Amino acid sequence: MADRTGDESPVAQGCFVTFEGGEGAGKTTQIARLKARLAALGIEAEVTREPGGSPAAEVIRKLLLEGKVRELGPRMEASMFAAARADHMDVTIRPALERGAWVLCDRFADSTRVYQGEAGVDTGFLDRLEKIATAGRRPDLTVLVDVPAEVGLARVATRSEGAGGPDRFETDAIATQERRRRLFLELAAAQPERFVVVDGTADAETVEAGIWKAVRARLLAGDGPVLAADTGEAS
Ligand code: TYD
Repeated sequence: MADRTGDESPVAQGCFVTFEGGEGAGKTTQIARLKARLAALGIEAEVTREPGGSPAAEVIRKLLLEGKVRELGPRMEASMFAAARADHMDVTIRPALERGAWVLCDRFADSTRVYQGEAGVDTGFLDRLEKIATAGRRPDLTVLVDVPAEVGLARVATRSEGAGGPDRFETDAIATQERRRRLFLELAAAQPERFVVVDGTADAETVEAGIWKAVRARLLAGDGPVLAADTGEAS
């Protein structure tokens, strides 16, 4: 390891945790709960989302969710998600991790694999985009909040009432949503060391406990002082 001079000890990189799942899976609630649990241990976590999460990426988000890019085809959509992601990595995610904060990100590269993959973009193209966008930085943990398409869509329908209606991706047919669900589950099965799958149909407390168990086991294990102060019980 490089010899560091000076009084300050090196700041350990924060952990990068992404949340994935179909529409109405309950990711937002769970991200807030994980942030609160980490805060109780004195761990700072920055919450962010995709598409978006940096000023330039938020501009692209607007175009994508309004459906303006749809007519240009799925490759163009995939490329724009990746362009937004590259900026989000540079401006928001990497700096936060480098200063030692954790990053909790609502959707990331797996969403492109699933949504744009399902729309017909080939794996080789998606591989190249991902390399450019992330420079090889994978999440340390990806939480897949799994719900059947009809459960998620029913939640979205309730949420969309009075909120300007559903966005471009939420209006897709139930069969499409179900194919996306399968693709997410396939990704998780192929990379079990990175993913944890939680049943999003359970009540929020149960989902939260499942996520916390995985975070403790995979990201906090071995961190003696942190675990000593934490009983693992819901607060
Ligand atoms: P958002 O309102 O953030 O939805 P959610 O609450 O479901 O996360 O909208 C993001 C939409 O964009 C969502 O339908 C999934 C889609 N998406 C892609 O198609 N590809 C991507 O790479 C990402 C990040 C999102």
